[in-house]
Amino acid sequence: MLAAKSITKQFGRIRALAGVDFVASRGEIHALLGENGAGKSTLIRILTGILRPDSGQVTLNRIPLQVGSAATALRRGIAAVYQTPMLFERMTWEENLALGRLNQRRLDFVQVTAEAQAVAADLGFTLPPPRTLVEELSVPERVRLEILRALRSHPQVLILDEPTSILSPTELQPFLALLCRLRSQGRTVVLVTHKLAEALAVADHVTILRAGKVVGETAACHTNEAELARLMMGEDRPRPSSAPTERRQPGKPVVQLHQITVRSADRLVLDRVSLTLHSGAIVGIAGVERNGQEELVEVIAGVRSASSGSIVVADPNCDRREAIAIVPQDRDGDGLILELSLWENLLLAPRLRRRLVSRHGWIRRASAIQLCEEIISLFNVRAYSAKVPVGSLSGGNRQRFLIARTLAATPAVIAACDISRGLDFSAAAELRARLCEYARRGGAVLLISADLEELFELCDRLYVINRGRVAEVRLGQQNMAEIGLMMAGHFADETESRPEK
Ligand SMILES: Nc1ncnc2c1ncn2[C@@H]1O[C@H](COP(=O)(O)OP(=O)(O)O)[C@@H](O)[C@H]1O
Ligand SMILES: [Mg+2]
Repeated sequence: MLAAKSITKQFGRIRALAGVDFVASRGEIHALLGENGAGKSTLIRILTGILRPDSGQVTLNRIPLQVGSAATALRRGIAAVYQTPMLFERMTWEENLALGRLNQRRLDFVQVTAEAQAVAADLGFTLPPPRTLVEELSVPERVRLEILRALRSHPQVLILDEPTSILSPTELQPFLALLCRLRSQGRTVVLVTHKLAEALAVADHVTILRAGKVVGETAACHTNEAELARLMMGEDRPRPSSAPTERRQPGKPVVQLHQITVRSADRLVLDRVSLTLHSGAIVGIAGVERNGQEELVEVIAGVRSASSGSIVVADPNCDRREAIAIVPQDRDGDGLILELSLWENLLLAPRLRRRLVSRHGWIRRASAIQLCEEIISLFNVRAYSAKVPVGSLSGGNRQRFLIARTLAATPAVIAACDISRGLDFSAAAELRARLCEYARRGGAVLLISADLEELFELCDRLYVINRGRVAEVRLGQQNMAEIGLMMAGHFADETESRPEK
């Protein structure tokens, strides 16, 4: 039994946890829910002992847990997958997995890799070659590795901070089934998720945090999504409105790709891709990551050139880097500099930089801070001020800030990857509404995601990408299951052209 008693934790002036009690028993899946910034990740770091609470105590089977490192926790049988991957970037994934085993006399890479691959196969995860450096992996690949690493130690307690938002539709079921198997072996699973239906489907108990306090603790069978949402948000807050349903009017083409092919180290990463982004329209790309999405965005943004094919951008005189803004998948690595303040991070957006830096290179500090304060309040970013480092924000608030910065720069095109990953449902709804508003005002959006529900809700046109090829989905005619199959590589034209047996 993992228990936390009267935990408080203060970061400067922010009270992240105020007297939290939490108990997860043996043989149960315990869902930990709460809005962005509610204190979930802080509680988890205290539960694993990598963060010291200001007061209160954590016990495992009634024995106090010493504050220490992830390794100390592992020795006590607690493994965790944190919200931000904790891997050594300059090592291969195989080395990363082997590291946790240094207490063994001999490092057996073959065995480590084989074990990881066996678990991965069980979960339907595809792994990159073992010698791949972690820095070359996508965020979802890193999280999958962390899951494998955590499982490898056969922990008594497995704690997962929002792992499911990165899994593709085909990976989710095997993963949840695995959690249920762990439960039946008498282990404890603590799962942070923003998907309430998923939490209710697998969890035995739920604990709901709001603003650092426990506002509900109940058996999953005694509650429902509406009640959970109410508890998470509080009674007084208005319900989030979903994206406005009024149809947008697609305008002129802004970016046209014609038969774009990209080769990288002899591999075909984009295969004759043709698609058009219109002003006032949202185009979705559904797919499991590493099927060419990244390269597609890079070609559109002009940072990668195509091996063949053509790309036409409506206003050839404009600066591509200013006109086309990217919301990268790896927000902490590519989008933000965590050590710098929020206002300094505004300067990373080319278009804002032009506004905030004088011709002679002087940074207009006061204007930047003022603009940043406006953005913070307009987009409800929970930050104490524009001067705090981005790294002090909770994961969801970093995402909010990143998108706020992108929208504030009013680019002609936004190419965004996984916009709502890590956002609670109310923040995600708000963000979708803002993106729709941007499109309604004439912006062109390319939305890359593995979340089909989100794509269905937002997109005017939808494509599936698989191994560098795109196929358009007939919206309204094809269902989720069919599209899921397309994401797994079953394109209609391929089946048709397959020779008869
Ligand atoms: N290292 C830190 N420094 C300053 N503030 C922090 C730090 N870590 C978390 N916080 C603050 O504590 C609160 C809770 O954050 P977190 O536990 O990450 O929320 P959640 O995981 O529920 O989204 C937030 O207001 C966040 O900004
Ligand atoms: Mg968190």
